[in-house]
Amino acid sequence: MFHLTILCSLLSLFLLPPANLAAVSDDEFLKLPLLRKSPLPSPTQALALDTRRLHFLSLRRKPIPFVKSPVVSGASSGSGQYFVDLRIGQPPQSLHLIADTGSDLVWVKCSACRNCSLHSPATVFFPRHSSTFSPTHCYDPLCRLVPEPVRAPKCNHTRIHSTCHYEYAYADGSLTSGLFATETTTLKTSSGREAYLKSVAFGCGFRISGQSVSGASFNGAHGVMGLGRGPISFASQLGRRFGNKFSYCLMDYTLSPPPTSYLIIGDGDGGGGVRSKLLFTPLLTNPFSPTFYYIRLKSVSVNGAKLRIHPSVWEIDGSGNGGTVVDSGTTLAFLADPAYRLVVATVRRRIRLPIAAELTPGFDLCVNVSGVSKPEKLMPRLKFEFAGGAVFVPPPRNYFIETEEHVQCLAIQSVNQKVGFSVMGNLMQQGFVFEFDRDRSRLGFSPRGCALP
Ligand SMILES: *[C@@H]1O[C@H](CO)[C@@H](O)[C@H](O)[C@H]1NC(C)=O
Ligand SMILES: *[C@@H]1O[C@H](CO)[C@@H](O)[C@H](O)[C@H]1NC(C)=O
Ligand SMILES: *[C@@H]1O[C@H](CO)[C@@H](O)[C@H](O)[C@H]1NC(C)=O
Repeated sequence: MFHLTILCSLLSLFLLPPANLAAVSDDEFLKLPLLRKSPLPSPTQALALDTRRLHFLSLRRKPIPFVKSPVVSGASSGSGQYFVDLRIGQPPQSLHLIADTGSDLVWVKCSACRNCSLHSPATVFFPRHSSTFSPTHCYDPLCRLVPEPVRAPKCNHTRIHSTCHYEYAYADGSLTSGLFATETTTLKTSSGREAYLKSVAFGCGFRISGQSVSGASFNGAHGVMGLGRGPISFASQLGRRFGNKFSYCLMDYTLSPPPTSYLIIGDGDGGGGVRSKLLFTPLLTNPFSPTFYYIRLKSVSVNGAKLRIHPSVWEIDGSGNGGTVVDSGTTLAFLADPAYRLVVATVRRRIRLPIAAELTPGFDLCVNVSGVSKPEKLMPRLKFEFAGGAVFVPPPRNYFIETEEHVQCLAIQSVNQKVGFSVMGNLMQQGFVFEFDRDRSRLGFSPRGCALP
């Protein structure tokens, strides 16, 4: 999911007090169950709808200088998202958040009601029911880390109750606004103990609008857990205590019941084991989009044959456009248009399945799998080569999705790299461990390791 990054000098990390944690030993890390929303309401329909919307918006979008998003968050399709539970407040209130590496802000829907016993089970956060809720003062340096609303009240230093108002917008114009605050969160560490993390900065959202973050399309989420690279993200705040890396495994969305995997913050591998067998590629930074985890895609192969794509197609250009982002909050994959067209043409030539009589709207290549018991075997294999020599070979189910009965479509979309960037969305990441090693600025991945506890 993409937050509109405005070119502004990002305040340095030290402005944010490190989240304060009671009683955790040094070798512990955090483990949060990661789930596809269950039960799954016809994922294929939702994905198809989502894609249509993405397509529409990307065509409509005008290039705006320094705003980096031609594509829309996968949040527009609730079923295309992965969720984590966050227990926030004292006593803890448990809320479902979308795990999103493509944005920074952690926010939850908030309600100002005083006696909220009628609202159970909770679908919003009730600050008045928490003894530890603490709104940030507008003069607090922390407040400068969140975008302020266009018509924010002027900050009065001397008034005690001048709260920090924020307004955070996503690529499709969806937004959340409210009070920027701090709260205690309750987390389980790897040893099974409860840890209370004090002063986690988050947005208490009182106004929420737009398709990505409201209505049915949000699909039961109560907010977003931004895991991006900016100082206010959950990964940044907790990384200062647990080790500045996180990893996850997104399980196959077609499995039923949906298996649970974990978002791990800290060094979940203890330096050994399966995760040491990861392949690594450097994480790149783009000063125009400090939130995103960029990697350098070098080539794409179909059935072992490297496509002739000019290297400039993958580059981040002088104004910050182009490049490739790893985003858990976007469902489908996006490729720079020249590469996209070549991939579609080559896959079409190599696929040993009949082309569907009718395309699912929003997709350029669909096949008819009626009567075929193992269509995967007849689909060409894509291979992505990243900088540093790491090679990513996803199974076909990561890039072909069933959009209608007996119809599967190539789940990749085109993006104009002159105004946007390529994206490895969550579908493409399925079944692999991904580790975002922020200190060493590298992304690790492996097809093994998802079965680990
Ligand atoms: C809240 O509502 C419940 C049930 O309606 C009532 O029993 C309780 O006294 C109320 N508490 C406050 C503080 O108003
Ligand atoms: C700021 O708040 C103080 C205390 O409430 C008040 O006396 C003062 O007039 C306010 N200043 C402005 C510019 O509103
Ligand atoms: C798929 O193929 C079957 C049998 O060959 C045919 O009956 C059906 O209409 C086809 N569906 C599409 C969408 O092409």
